[in-house]
Amino acid sequence: QDPQTFYEAVGGEPTFRKIVARFYAEVAADEVLRPMYPEADLGPAEERLRLFLMQYWGGPHTYSERRGHPRLRMRHAPFSIGPLERDAWLRAMRIAVDEADLPKPLEEQLWQYLQMAADSMINTWG
Ligand code: HEM
Repeated sequence: QDPQTFYEAVGGEPTFRKIVARFYAEVAADEVLRPMYPEADLGPAEERLRLFLMQYWGGPHTYSERRGHPRLRMRHAPFSIGPLERDAWLRAMRIAVDEADLPKPLEEQLWQYLQMAADSMINTWG
């Protein structure tokens, strides 16, 4: 029998929905992040991030069915991401993760990944 996935352990789709919705509420009000988003409506971007994270943590593969291989660094290449943008992204995500109130070991696992992923998205220095 398969061990429970991280996706299931944190409560499945409703948990990811909550975290990513809270994250985008911060993005909408953030003077560094908001201007980076090309579309007026943040809803589609919210859905893409939610589906990506659900898939990454062992949930349904809807992200790749719709978008193909994630190739996240490549998809972020059009945006200038330096330490300032990374910090703004992590600040917004920290609030969202805190409010999800996950069991500590799961929260730490999620946060470690998000920090690592945000670092790896940096494509602009100086
Ligand atoms: C897309 C910014 C880090 C996952 C985007 C978009 C922007 C952006 C402006 C385009 C909006 C859209 O149309 O979807 C940033 C900034 C980051 C960051 C400033 C700071 C480091 C991350 C990280 C992840 C991530 C760490 C994953 C853990 C995604 C995904 C998409 C996306 C899945 C949609 C890709 C697609 O299917 O087109 N990001 N991002 N981003 N980002 Fe980020």
